[in-house]
Amino acid sequence: MQKANTYILAIESSCDDTSCAILNNNVVLANITANQSVHEQYGGVIPELASRDHQKNIVPVVDAALKKAGVKLSQINAIAVTVGPGLMGSLLVGLTFAKSLALALKIPLIEVNHMQAHILAHFIKEAGDKTEEAQDNEQINFPQFPFLCLTVSGGHTQLVKIKGHLEFELLGQTIDDAVGEAFDKAAKVIGLPYPGGPLIDKYAKAGNKNKFKFAESNVAGLDYSFSGIKTSFLYFIQNETLKNKNFVAENLNDICASYQSHLIKVLLKKVKLALKQTGIKQLAVAGGVSANSLLREEIKNMEKEINVKTFIPPFEYCTDNAAMIGIAGYYKFLQGQFSQVSVVPQVRMETGS
Ligand code: KG4
Ligand code: ZN
Repeated sequence: MQKANTYILAIESSCDDTSCAILNNNVVLANITANQSVHEQYGGVIPELASRDHQKNIVPVVDAALKKAGVKLSQINAIAVTVGPGLMGSLLVGLTFAKSLALALKIPLIEVNHMQAHILAHFIKEAGDKTEEAQDNEQINFPQFPFLCLTVSGGHTQLVKIKGHLEFELLGQTIDDAVGEAFDKAAKVIGLPYPGGPLIDKYAKAGNKNKFKFAESNVAGLDYSFSGIKTSFLYFIQNETLKNKNFVAENLNDICASYQSHLIKVLLKKVKLALKQTGIKQLAVAGGVSANSLLREEIKNMEKEINVKTFIPPFEYCTDNAAMIGIAGYYKFLQGQFSQVSVVPQVRMETGS
């Protein structure tokens, strides 16, 4: 693969974060994200409000990223943008903006699959890191192909085999809810604002993970199911609250610790099965839920337990961000995979074959 000296401007707007990143090759110079607090009160993302906020945020976010990177629009060689999966109205804002910019600057447009980008976040380098050459000489700490990735977000839970920067094979996925949704919906039941995943993580730190039990998940092969677990949580809280109306307040930490521990156990059971079945010895984790502290700890523990090398991206590249869109765009740029301006957003998209 030929190396280029390329500046890429990347845009992510698939859900409720408006983000812009500037990359020089695979090095991130700026990664600016505007989060939308408007959804907190509703217990979930309201698509109409999300697209309106993207409209408000996109120009200031792009401006801020260019300023932080110290790069002029005239230096940009390509625009990378999320094409899906995601919310139609949200995707439209980012994609339309990206198309207009690519047309105005007369440079290529590169469409990026959001879920593949979460995985490729493992290949991001930061401006303060050693030079690319120095890192190459040291065989830097990137996953080697093929590796397995557990991709866990608000909308997806997938096990993917990655055979090359742009070669993905889907091994398994949830047949109903995503694990992020199982975190967020449970958080709503116990009165926590959206997104509840980080709050469950926070309260769990002071709780007893063995105190309460929830439904098991019985799905064949490498697929997942979280909807039964989520429902068992709802009934458990309803029943206990009937007996004691202060049940949640009195047991918040233990509820969070027990539920979180159960979800992570379910996730890792299939990860271990996939590693065994494929014989792969390298494991990565990606997506918003990879910010979860217990998941990070348990994945690290697997290094000793089952002799597998593990990779967890820095915190800011776990949740939605444009740097991951930029790195995916960079690999597509190297292979000349450019898009037509007629490209349209895709609400659903496969991660791999
Ligand atoms: O990848 P992401 O930022 O957006 C999607 O593409 O969905 O993931 C968001 C999800 C939400 O469900 C959020 O609750 C969850 O990631 N999340 C966490 C944590 N931080 C974010 N879940 C559990 N523990 C965390 N620390
Ligand atoms: Zn995401």
